[in-house]
Amino acid sequence: MSTSVTVDDRLIQTLRESASTVFLTGAGVSAESGIPTFRDAMTGLWSRYRPEELATPDGFERDPELVWRWYEWRRGIVSETDPNPGHHALRRMQHGLTTSLLITQNVDGLHQRAGSEQLIELHGNLFRNLCSRDMHPVMTEEWVPGNPPRCPRCDSLVRPGVVWFGEMLPPDAIESARQAAMSCDVFFSIGTSAQVYPAAQLAEIALGNGATVVEVNPEPTTLTRYADFVLSSPSGAALPEIARRLGPN
Ligand code: OAD
Repeated sequence: MSTSVTVDDRLIQTLRESASTVFLTGAGVSAESGIPTFRDAMTGLWSRYRPEELATPDGFERDPELVWRWYEWRRGIVSETDPNPGHHALRRMQHGLTTSLLITQNVDGLHQRAGSEQLIELHGNLFRNLCSRDMHPVMTEEWVPGNPPRCPRCDSLVRPGVVWFGEMLPPDAIESARQAAMSCDVFFSIGTSAQVYPAAQLAEIALGNGATVVEVNPEPTTLTRYADFVLSSPSGAALPEIARRLGPN
């Protein structure tokens, strides 16, 4: 699908002059890699469950094996996919800009696989596993096998290293993200419905600090009316065009 994207010259000029640029990404960036968004993922085998039943501490306590198998299923889907042009364009832009930070709500690890480095994973990572008692990382090669496996140190159940509904975000991650939003010159909101807090608060903080706000989303969101620049295009088309206009990296 060829999507011609028009990028305002003023945006490119603003980006070139930006001393600090923040990119916030959501499920829309990974949708073009074929990963169903959080709510679309409940297809087929899992259609009889609601995310709130599986991606929650109560859901895990109620049926740890069901929740573990669901995450194994999601990891299988993500392992079959690749970063798309939007992920690669973000890495190129980060290399070309003075200072930039990529903050993602996605747990699929595709930004890392595209080579992005200055990265904060607000909601954790599908491929990380933790001891459910002390939340310390548990490596695959050390756990006691099972569905779910058990912690080799205390025999507690192992859980996925993602933020569940009703859980706090990693304090250092959200604090660093807030600081970056408070001091950036340009803030991108890409592929997110901007509905889920505290991530959605970052755009508000950026607006409050007088940053130039850019939204990349084929659909309008609650942020659209406040954004300085709105690219109503898929991120896989818009981001490579911005990267191209910014220059080689
Ligand atoms: P959503 O599913 O809420 O929103 C995805 C957004 O991506 C929508 O606004 C779509 O219009 C947009 N979109 C779809 N395709 C796109 C494309 N090709 N390019 C650009 N945008 C596109 O996903 P998030 O906003 O990421 O939290 O959801 C935030 C959080 O809610 C998730 O991290 C998850 C969920 O509960 C946890 O798991 C803790």
